Amino acid sequence: MDIHLILICLLYRLVVCEPQCSKFDYEEKTLEKMIRTEILVEQIVSDIEQLKQQTNDAVLTVEKIKTELGVNFQNMHSENALKLEEYKNTMSEWKDLLEIKPDVLFLAKDPTTQSPSTNAPIIFGTTMYDLSKSYDNTTGAFTSPVDGMYAFTTQMCLAIGTGKWVNYAIVANGQYVANSLTYDNSYRFCNTAQAFVFLKEGYQVYVTARTRSSSSLRENHGHEWCTFSGMLIH
Ligand SMILES: *[C@@H]1O[C@H](CO)[C@@H](O)[C@H](O)[C@H]1NC(C)=O
Repeated sequence: MDIHLILICLLYRLVVCEPQCSKFDYEEKTLEKMIRTEILVEQIVSDIEQLKQQTNDAVLTVEKIKTELGVNFQNMHSENALKLEEYKNTMSEWKDLLEIKPDVLFLAKDPTTQSPSTNAPIIFGTTMYDLSKSYDNTTGAFTSPVDGMYAFTTQMCLAIGTGKWVNYAIVANGQYVANSLTYDNSYRFCNTAQAFVFLKEGYQVYVTARTRSSSSLRENHGHEWCTFSGMLIH
């Protein structure tokens, strides 16, 4: 630009026409503002782009973590299920060893009749003791309270008379597990029978007369007892 023109312009601006120069100043400022706004908008757009990218990255990362966690939890779950199954098997193997069994011990005496029905339980009506309340003195049957090895004994005494006898048995869960015969032609006589059996919980055990002479049993006597007793060994 010519130096004279600049001078003129300066003079013009300072002296001659205030409003027109003011307009120029205004336009210049507006332009400047517009340029600054444009730069700002560009900056904002770029920031938004960056934010978008960061958000996308974050979402991807979260998705990845979610998948990894899911896989880990799945694995953990399967492993734990396997371990639990193992523990369960071990526990059931050890259940019998770990189980605290009740005290089972009973003794009953005094048949309620001299002439019990054959093959039915002989009812020993007097319970001397019965720790687990497993013997029923109204039916003559012992019911095993737990699985286990049991021992049973019965003593059979004959009533006074000629040719008395009784063929008797211990019956466990419907099976004969001891068989015996008490016989005496003219005098009182006792003998015993034992059985060792494995019983499941709820099995019944009783003594029965398979065959007998009439009025063969000693009922309630001070010196000779007809008895039925048993206990849980293990
Ligand atoms: C019969 O058994 C019940 C229950 O165990 C007992 O309370 C009762 O004393 C027994 N009876 C006799 C005569 O032993």
